[in-house]
Amino acid sequence: MSRKALFLLFAATYAALLLAGCARTPGPGLARGEQVFDTCFPCHGRDGLGNQTLGAPAIAGLPRWYIERQLNNFKSAMRGADPHDMEGSRMRPMARSLYRPGDIASVAEYVSTLPGRVPSATMVMGDTAAGRMRYQTICVTCHQDDGNGNEALGAPPLTHQHDWYMMSQIAKFKSGMRGAHPDDVMGAQMAAMANTLEDSTAMHDVIAFIRTLQK
Ligand code: HEC
Ligand code: HEC
Repeated sequence: MSRKALFLLFAATYAALLLAGCARTPGPGLARGEQVFDTCFPCHGRDGLGNQTLGAPAIAGLPRWYIERQLNNFKSAMRGADPHDMEGSRMRPMARSLYRPGDIASVAEYVSTLPGRVPSATMVMGDTAAGRMRYQTICVTCHQDDGNGNEALGAPPLTHQHDWYMMSQIAKFKSGMRGAHPDDVMGAQMAAMANTLEDSTAMHDVIAFIRTLQK
């Protein structure tokens, strides 16, 4: 075989391999997001509905902008880096594995297409009427009347989230495990609100009311 023919053969093989590689790893977008999601479902479930045993919340039903921000927060150690944050220490390495440019946006786009579902109650609930008072004087400003959240204020919807997870997050905001990083502007706003819930009775009450918004 002439040197030129040999060169062409190599070039063709190389191009074929390159193309095959591209086919396996699509560019940023939904298809890539679905592929990345293969690393998420062991904890969050195929439908993104969460797993209480693992402390993994429902991520189905969350908007893209919120998912993206949380993934960036975990990745940059703004969330989940406290040595006592057991659940955060499970999630953080997952966010850090999303190093390929576009992967955070792609998986956030894919997860945001998963429909949320009303979760079943797992806790003995508090006083809905007392919770309504608190919700409508404080939480409503950002999470809205219907609990659907507000993108402009960075507040996520609470309408498809598990009671046990909301309880744990309010406790984390109160203890400074979440929202205390100096660059976490959104987290700090929520932490100040969590501190208005003075004890676990107040927390149970407000979550009991939030559950009435879940439908
Ligand atoms: C090893 C288990 C595990 C895997 C795998 C995992 N997560 Fe998580 N994830 C968790 C846990 C536990 C939490 C709750 C952390 C906490 O309590 O602050 C969480 C929290 C989150 C949150 C925050 C939700 C909210 O309401 O604030 C998002 C978003 C998220 N995960 C997305 C993902 C994505 C996307 C993947 C795949 C790339 C993934 N997770 C893989 C365990 C996991
Ligand atoms: C000033 C606006 C504001 C008010 C008022 C507010 N929140 Fe929030 N809340 C936020 C923001 C912003 C976040 C997301 C923080 C982040 O990015 O980590 C959040 C997050 C949460 C979360 C965690 C959701 C998740 O998926 O991890 C819960 C639960 C929550 N809020 C409940 C409440 C309750 C209950 C009240 C009333 C006592 C309340 N919030 C009042 C802005 C607010």
